[in-house]
Amino acid sequence: MLLPRPHTVTAGAGRFTLTPTTTIAAPEALTAEAIWLGSALRPATGLPLPHSVIPEGGVMPGASARDAAGQITLGLDGSLGAEAYRLTVAERGVTIDGGGAAGVFYGCQSLLQLLPPEIYRRATTPGADWSIPAVAVQDSPRFGWRGAMLDVARHFMPKHDVLRFIDLMAMHKLNVLHLHLTDDQGWRIEITKYPRLTDVSSWRSESQVGAQEGCPGDGRPHGGFYTQLDIREIVGYAAARHITVVPEIEMPGHVQAMLAAYPEYGVTGKPIDVATRWGIIEDVANAEESTIAFFCDVLDEVMELFPSEFVHVGGDECPRVQWAADPRTEQLMRERGITREADLQSWFMAQIGAHLSARGKRMVGWDELLEGPVPEGTVISSWRDMTGAVTAATRGYDVISCPTSVAYLDFRQSDRPDEPIPVAMPVTVPDAYAFEPVPPQLTAEQAAHVLGGQANIWTEHMDSARTVDFFAFPRLSAIAEALWSRGDRDYTEFEPRLTEHLKRLDAIGVEYRHASGPLPWQTRPGIPGRPVGREEWQRFTDELVLQIKD
Ligand code: ACM
Repeated sequence: MLLPRPHTVTAGAGRFTLTPTTTIAAPEALTAEAIWLGSALRPATGLPLPHSVIPEGGVMPGASARDAAGQITLGLDGSLGAEAYRLTVAERGVTIDGGGAAGVFYGCQSLLQLLPPEIYRRATTPGADWSIPAVAVQDSPRFGWRGAMLDVARHFMPKHDVLRFIDLMAMHKLNVLHLHLTDDQGWRIEITKYPRLTDVSSWRSESQVGAQEGCPGDGRPHGGFYTQLDIREIVGYAAARHITVVPEIEMPGHVQAMLAAYPEYGVTGKPIDVATRWGIIEDVANAEESTIAFFCDVLDEVMELFPSEFVHVGGDECPRVQWAADPRTEQLMRERGITREADLQSWFMAQIGAHLSARGKRMVGWDELLEGPVPEGTVISSWRDMTGAVTAATRGYDVISCPTSVAYLDFRQSDRPDEPIPVAMPVTVPDAYAFEPVPPQLTAEQAAHVLGGQANIWTEHMDSARTVDFFAFPRLSAIAEALWSRGDRDYTEFEPRLTEHLKRLDAIGVEYRHASGPLPWQTRPGIPGRPVGREEWQRFTDELVLQIKD
């Protein structure tokens, strides 16, 4: 009943039971994993589960040994891939061997799932049976990039909720948290060189309620940001769970919050407030060298905080109307020998890409980047369905697939009228489960450019972690399996495992959407959404990608 479905599971005979004498033993290199496993098992079981180090070079008198009776033994096996693991539960003990520490960690996650769902509670449950059926599991992921994007710009998510979300990702063997840190409606990361980004850009006077143009504001200020210490904590907490945090700093569009603090980096230079309404906004960054320098300064601090090789720089939904109407921008284009505004955006991204690559980082951008030349080594997030994925992989660029029609978890979850603030087309759990990151028309060589995929959680209409729970789960559980598991996917095989998995989410306290529909308190009566039919959505998406160049 594991989720995501492992590669092979072979049932054995008997059971292993956690008792007051059970110990956890691991070589020094796996100390962090051993400590994590103990901390994950202790609250619900109330058992001490002491950890000991298995010395290198084999058994010594009095020292811990592999596979001792009553022991959970962690180990490394160089013949396995870094994220692969082999988990064996026998009456005598448990062994978890991984190709690397990540594989061992995933084996530990599977071990938790073999226990009753109460293992996820934070205190002991009367009468709980901490025995595990004997089993051998061999497992490894299909993709190296198994991600979730969290938009903490539209609605700020307090740090403790981000850490909780990281735990939920880890439970699903997801390994990339893409943090969308800046947008028109808020800037969420402290940048010491530009204090107004937190003083001014990190809060707005109110928020639009509802998805239609003209919807009223709530009259309530909204804000928040992560200090650099908070970011270090989030990154470290994620790293301990084998999750890489990929920061996103949006440019040259989706920058109104930044322009509220530093209007000189805008095209008009006029004072402007942090946006209080959703949508695509015409106020964008100008293309001056000083603006490039500003973003490079910001990225320098970002790179210092995020060890990720990948840095996302947005690039989506940048209207070019202000550039087209601005004599100074025209002059800049002439000076640079550029004739189209689209090429000015490519120029902009190329400057940023060069700054990143000179520092050993790889630029990631939304698929709008493909509307012009793209610097070598750039990774494309293909969101307007799979056109970007096909084009990028064909042109030799690496790809992360996150198509709206299956991976946008802000989209309404059914056709029901009581879905809260329903936007776009329905993305049901079976739709999410059918997510296929590799477009079928690619050759094997092109398909190798697909690093994996991710779910995107845009939070215009999610003003709390509770609402994020409702939109994310269980669709993210389905997507986690699509990104981890190999072989055919059959929803009728998945569904009973999901039913078991929901008990785990219940034990944690995740307020997921039930298959029967939103609970009364999960609805938003009277707040208008912007639902679109599937075909209409498809037509709309097909039109959007016409600018992508083969
Ligand atoms: C996006 O959804 N604008 C990437």
